[in-house]
Amino acid sequence: MGKFILGVIVTLLVLILGGLGLAMLGFFPTTANVEPPRLERRLAMGAVDASAERRAPRVSNPLTATDPNLEDGMKLYTMNCALCHGGLDRKPSTLANSFYPPPPNLISDPPDDPEWRIFYTIRTGIRYAGMPAWDKSLSEQDMWKITMLLSHIDKLPPGVQEYWKTNFGVEPAAGDEKQEGEKKHDHH
Ligand code: HEC
Repeated sequence: MGKFILGVIVTLLVLILGGLGLAMLGFFPTTANVEPPRLERRLAMGAVDASAERRAPRVSNPLTATDPNLEDGMKLYTMNCALCHGGLDRKPSTLANSFYPPPPNLISDPPDDPEWRIFYTIRTGIRYAGMPAWDKSLSEQDMWKITMLLSHIDKLPPGVQEYWKTNFGVEPAAGDEKQEGEKKHDHH
């Protein structure tokens, strides 16, 4: 029994050190201009989800979904998020395919997660992905306004829809309609 356990430990050590060695010798790819394999994506997404599930506080939005708050959300989104996640003008984001993993288009494919979850992602970012943590550059209020916009994008009040049309020159997002040529982001 003792020998068996020693065998297991030695095997594990060899695997771990071997993996580290290969990494240090440059055998692992570190480029961002390719699409992540399905399995890797699944595993990474699962880990991100589980971590948020365990750590994110179940807070609710302290702000009410008024027209001015939602419109502020649009301005803040445009200034900070559109570059990677696609604009309210529905033109494809310049950087849509330049990250590993690629940023989902949050306008044509808004997250269906609860607000505490969206807020947590915005506030803390996603490690080893291109998603920045915004807690150092946006106020709590502003992060909640963006969260509110994303969770209401399919059910905006008429005044806000009008604001969207006037300022971005297109009809507001209509449900699950997809931008042309865009890949569907698999939600979890
Ligand atoms: C520099 C590029 C970049 C910017 C700017 C950026 N993000 Fe991200 N974001 C990403 C990437 C890349 C991912 C995908 C990470 C992943 O799949 O694990 C992501 C993921 C997300 C997700 C999770 C989506 C999902 O399907 O679970 C949300 C929500 C999000 N971002 C919101 C925002 C908001 C709101 C802003 C603006 C305040 C923003 N991001 C700004 C790159 C960016």
